[in-house]
Amino acid sequence: MTQFDFAPDRRQTSSVKHDLTEKIFGKEDVIPLWVADMDFETPDFVRQAVVQRAMHPVYGYTFRDESYYEAIAQWLWRRHNWKVQRESLLFVPGVVPALNLIVMALTNPGDEIIIQSPVYFPFFGAVKDHGRVMVNNQLIEERGSYRIDFDQLEQQARTAKMLILCNPHNPVGRSWTRDELQKIADICLRHKVLVLSDEIHNDLVMPGFRHQVFANISPEVAQISITAHAASKTFNLAGLATASLIVDNVELRQKITTVIQHFHLDMGNLFGIEATKAAFLHGDIWLDELITYIDQNYKTARGFFMQHLPSMVVSPLEATYLMWLDFGWLGLSDENLRHKMIQEAGLGLNPGIDFGPGGENHLRLNLACPRATLLEALQKMAKVFA
Ligand SMILES: Cc1ncc(COP(=O)(O)O)c(C=O)c1O
Repeated sequence: MTQFDFAPDRRQTSSVKHDLTEKIFGKEDVIPLWVADMDFETPDFVRQAVVQRAMHPVYGYTFRDESYYEAIAQWLWRRHNWKVQRESLLFVPGVVPALNLIVMALTNPGDEIIIQSPVYFPFFGAVKDHGRVMVNNQLIEERGSYRIDFDQLEQQARTAKMLILCNPHNPVGRSWTRDELQKIADICLRHKVLVLSDEIHNDLVMPGFRHQVFANISPEVAQISITAHAASKTFNLAGLATASLIVDNVELRQKITTVIQHFHLDMGNLFGIEATKAAFLHGDIWLDELITYIDQNYKTARGFFMQHLPSMVVSPLEATYLMWLDFGWLGLSDENLRHKMIQEAGLGLNPGIDFGPGGENHLRLNLACPRATLLEALQKMAKVFA
């Protein structure tokens, strides 16, 4: 048994994952395996830091002192071999708000922005909601493995202003290699395309894989890059609304800072400050154990499918705790697949079609739960679909 075999009851904590099942799935009684947070306890050293601050009787306006930025920079150096300058680090109250404000700050209405579907669906809104034009460099799939269509990207980059990169990629689970990222960088440098690299999952890379920070490929690449990062996925603190941008290019940073200031987004959440600091200062061992557990969950699920649902196409999990499953072999419509999964199996997964073209027939399963929960869910699935 490990600490991850235990999960607290999250019901009646206003948990999106556990308390909105009726609203999302039309059914109270489903095992929630959807939205990307973990059912594991946030680490004790993070909770202690938050509780200690909560004990002070005043929760007034708070700023982030140098120790906050130092903890982030040290982590990025220790875990990702990336030397980040203090002045390049900006606070934002979440990666999704940041994607939107960066699009507003650095592009104009009518500009083309490239995304690579199937991809985390708020990318679509970040482009379309601001009157920008979405250009899809759809990933190429072969039996569950995904790669980038570089020829198409080269064409699209001729007229696009920005690429929003998901590195590592949610939902297909790719940890892009240095070689792949170098190719993207070459194309984007050639055509002067900015790269907004969402690296929120960069700490969750499975054994045998290594995360390459896009901006860290070379100083030249850093000049066209904006990187988004947070402790929230890694340490399960998404409710604290705290994230970072790393922007080396002074001109881009100035434009982004202006929007942050105009919307007064830089105050932040005081508990997010303490939690982020504690996570990045003390989180190495806890994270290594978490990755081992998630990898084992992935292997357990993959083994289960091989035995009980052998036609299932399982994408290799190189990073994230999100498993991408192709149910195309069932020959069901997306609507019927979703209906059966909820009503007959009693399971709440993310519909693949929400992630755009290429997501048809797929579902995304959140592996960040105790193995016993995962096995219970898999057995329910096998009962319906075997
Ligand atoms: C790729 C990606 N970016 C951003 C987020 C959410 O970021 P935030 O909660 O900081 O807005 C998620 C959450 O699932 C994600 O998968």
